Amino acid sequence: MKITVIGSGYVGLVSGACFADVGNNVLCLDVDERKINMLNNGEIPIHEPGLEGMVVRNAEAGRLKFSTSYDVAVEHAEVIFLAVGTPPDEDGSADLQYILAAARSIGQRITKPVVVVDKSTVPVGTADKVRAAIGEEVAKRGVNVSFSVVSNPEFLKEGAALDDFMKPDRIVVGGDDAGALKLMRQLYAPFSRNHEKFVAMDVRSAELTKYAANAMLATRISFMNELANLAELLGADIESVRLGIGMDPRIGSQFLYPGMGYGGSCFPKDVKALVKTAADNDQTLHILTATELVNENQKNVLFNKLVRFYGGVENLRGKTIGLWGLSFKPNTDDMREAPSLVLIRNLFAAGASVRAYDPVASKEALRVLTLEHGAEKLQASLEIVGKAGDAVQGADVLVLVTEWKEFRTPDFNDLAQVLRDKAVFDGRNIYDPEVVATAGLRYEGIGRIG
Ligand code: NAD
Ligand code: UGA
Repeated sequence: MKITVIGSGYVGLVSGACFADVGNNVLCLDVDERKINMLNNGEIPIHEPGLEGMVVRNAEAGRLKFSTSYDVAVEHAEVIFLAVGTPPDEDGSADLQYILAAARSIGQRITKPVVVVDKSTVPVGTADKVRAAIGEEVAKRGVNVSFSVVSNPEFLKEGAALDDFMKPDRIVVGGDDAGALKLMRQLYAPFSRNHEKFVAMDVRSAELTKYAANAMLATRISFMNELANLAELLGADIESVRLGIGMDPRIGSQFLYPGMGYGGSCFPKDVKALVKTAADNDQTLHILTATELVNENQKNVLFNKLVRFYGGVENLRGKTIGLWGLSFKPNTDDMREAPSLVLIRNLFAAGASVRAYDPVASKEALRVLTLEHGAEKLQASLEIVGKAGDAVQGADVLVLVTEWKEFRTPDFNDLAQVLRDKAVFDGRNIYDPEVVATAGLRYEGIGRIG
């Protein structure tokens, strides 16, 4: 099938590469010339395990092409996926300007029937707006060309995106055009043995399904974070509690990990957008409002522990905090809404400085932190180093922020030698408190008996 993907970011590029990998002829479009130039040179603008090999393999086979030209992209396609960003607007709602701009660009050019697929995460009712935007442009041209709009939300996770896309749990498609649904079934057949993963529904339900999934997962995390904070007060260990409840198949063991709050480009914005959608319809989503509030507080949890450890915020002045991990989760360089940004902000405000190491996100972190704090402040208060060991040299304590594999088994005796104030703050509960304590280090986790 001839597919165009509009928006070549995390979702667009992964979707395009995976569709090409099963034999489709794919053109990925983006308005960002830098990205398209990189891709045309075999360079991948984002860090996603396995993506580079898949992109290069399919580009070399001639099945995957990149362009900034809407003329070329629209002419190419039988199916057009919209995978542009839907960032939060000031009031929390999803900003649809990129989606609607892309829809108009399609309407200005289509000459043959096409199925337009909303893959971006968009509020209920967006398919109608996309249909109207395309229709208006087609009408302006006075041509007669048919098109369908379906919703096909994406459920991949960064860091595991290829696997999630190639082996999805389910493929949700919303639409009322039988021909378009049939085409979507064919397109997804290679990812859906005997079609058993294909769930067809109406457009609005498909749009809401995406928000429901992210909101449910975010709520589980906030629930566990709140319970972790209670466990600390009660002298219980949240890790035992997590195991104890996760073995109940009705609960399940995934997404029960307490930490420094959920980050990333999706949970925070999607929870806000759903709360706003409800408010626009005169409903208050009490549970999700609490989910968000708990998450905002949780991003401060390690800073508050540092303040307690030092006996007051004033005692953090002049301290050097070693940080392991900057990205919002392992296996990505994505810094959007990363909990590390809140911790660094708090540390700078307290007059502490930071020595940080991240296996892949250093460059992106530096870019984002420079935008927030300015180069001068960073020069004075932040050093991003090239090795985990260098981040603890000359540091007073270590804070584990992102659970990259390479941080899992440090030599705690070595750490006890270098850390001046002999303490490890484990923001993801990856260390055994007893092992850390045996090396002569104070251990602070999230909701654990330290
Ligand atoms: P992204 O920011 O990585 O990529 C979006 C791309 O769209 C950018 O490269 C941008 O230049 C391009 N773009 C913007 N306007 C354009 C236009 N008019 N024409 C062509 N290109 C345009 O975003 P992302 O993380 O891939 O997310 C895309 C959508 O998918 C969002 O709605 C997001 O919520 C959803 N989503 C993301 C993930 C994820 O893990 N990142 C997972 C599931 C769903
Ligand atoms: C999330 C969803 O998992 C995907 O299904 C969805 O498609 C995507 O959002 C999206 O809509 O964009 P992603 O944000 O890439 O994927 O990463 P997750 O693995 O879900 O992690 C999100 C955040 O939650 C991270 O900060 C992570 O550290 C945190 N988290 C996750 C926890 O604190 N505890 C957990 O148990 C799991």
